[in-house]
Amino acid sequence: MPDGSLPRLGWVALDGLKFLSRISLWRDGVLTSREGNAHVDVVLLPQGRRSGWIPGGSCASGSVADGGVELRDRGDLGDGFRTSREVSDTFDHVFVESLAREVPSWPRDELTTEWLLTTAGEGQGPEPQRGQVLRGILEDLTVPHRDIDAALRIDARMDRHPAVTALRQRSAGVLLRHLGQSTTAPLLPTFNGTDDPVLRYFWVLVFADMQPHVSAWHAEQGIGSEVSRRTLADLGRQMTHNRRRFGYGGLTLNIDWLCTHFQGQLYQLGRLQFEMTDLGRTTASEIASSGRPAAVGDPALAVHVPDYSGPFTPSDCRASFALAGSFFAQHFPHFMGEVMTCHSWLLDRRLPIYLAPESNIVAFQRLFTITHREQTEDDATLFDSIFGTRDISDLDGLPQATSLQRAMVNNLRDGHHWYGGVGWRPIEA
Ligand SMILES: CC(C)(COP(=O)(O)OP(=O)(O)OC[C@H]1O[C@@H](n2cnc3c(N)ncnc32)[C@H](O)[C@@H]1OP(=O)(O)O)[C@@H](O)C(=O)NCCC(=O)NCCS
Repeated sequence: MPDGSLPRLGWVALDGLKFLSRISLWRDGVLTSREGNAHVDVVLLPQGRRSGWIPGGSCASGSVADGGVELRDRGDLGDGFRTSREVSDTFDHVFVESLAREVPSWPRDELTTEWLLTTAGEGQGPEPQRGQVLRGILEDLTVPHRDIDAALRIDARMDRHPAVTALRQRSAGVLLRHLGQSTTAPLLPTFNGTDDPVLRYFWVLVFADMQPHVSAWHAEQGIGSEVSRRTLADLGRQMTHNRRRFGYGGLTLNIDWLCTHFQGQLYQLGRLQFEMTDLGRTTASEIASSGRPAAVGDPALAVHVPDYSGPFTPSDCRASFALAGSFFAQHFPHFMGEVMTCHSWLLDRRLPIYLAPESNIVAFQRLFTITHREQTEDDATLFDSIFGTRDISDLDGLPQATSLQRAMVNNLRDGHHWYGGVGWRPIEA
């Protein structure tokens, strides 16, 4: 564990490893993540900057020296690990000034700077897709038509943006290095809040550039083109979500979520999506308490329910579960997961109080053993899913057309909150 005298918060650049995106809290020498506790022993920069984590088992330790990081022991990190000082040496300030000339509102926030540091050592990356080839890719990714038009118009003017183009290539290059790796891609700047169209569509173009490479990798794993296409088509769904949330086109949310698909960790199989992940501490102990062997870090499939896809009947879900069992056994035989988990608002234990027993959501709950809920109330997330707003102050102003909408509001009026829930079920062989 880290020495108590070392700074509690800081930043470390980890290249090619799970880092940044799953962090929630640094407490008592342990970084807790959304997936449970990630035990790390990494020394961090003293600037109070963002912290990184390494999943249990991959540990490095060291000490702060001269404002940099000196590693005493690289553990099993291998050559892919770079200290922040090593990365800083490659930081190209001229490049940043070029970006700022091309995009006058270029963000200088910490996350964007971190991303520039991460991409700085990257070679050229894949060639950008252009013209009609790009149009076809955007269509395959189910990008809404008005966004295809906007993205192609921006791409057509990219000659005026050589630095942005270089970053586009480097970004795709870094993300493609995560393809097939059981690591989380670095936390990426979303450019949320920008009014610059080039930045609004930046990640759309990066993912489009990656698409042929990811599809080819899928084919190498024997994954059919239909599964590949439907999986990556979540890009268009997220763009629809983007417009619903912010009122403008492009992609300035859920970039790290899409990285899960584009790095080969998540697949849409029938109605549902399945992500190769591992068990967090609480879920593992609750599964174990039911008599099934389960430990933190054990592989598991996380179940996700895509939106804008109509109702989901229990038979749709069972069909997806069966598909997932055979799909992962066939294409990822090294993935030895035995359980599926679902962490969602759909598993909140108060929903059956308000919804009809025959509702699909209540039926979905019956497909899982629901173990626990989050400690903290999460009304905003549920309201965002149902009403497209995180504001819970004006209950009277919300639509009440469906039983779910009424449930959302009535639960709060009854003096309760929403927490979501976590459940599991065995993977069918
Ligand atoms: C999950 C989902 C498919 C369930 O829809 P469903 O199959 O219609 O579910 P139910 O049968 O239980 O619906 C019960 C009622 O709630 C309504 N309802 C369901 N989802 C709704 C939503 N997102 N907004 C408003 N009303 C909704 C239904 O129309 C039905 O209304 P009624 O009883 O007045 O006729 C749907 O909510 C959805 O697409 N959500 C977005 C995706 C999502 O949130 N995924 C989980 C991410 S963690």
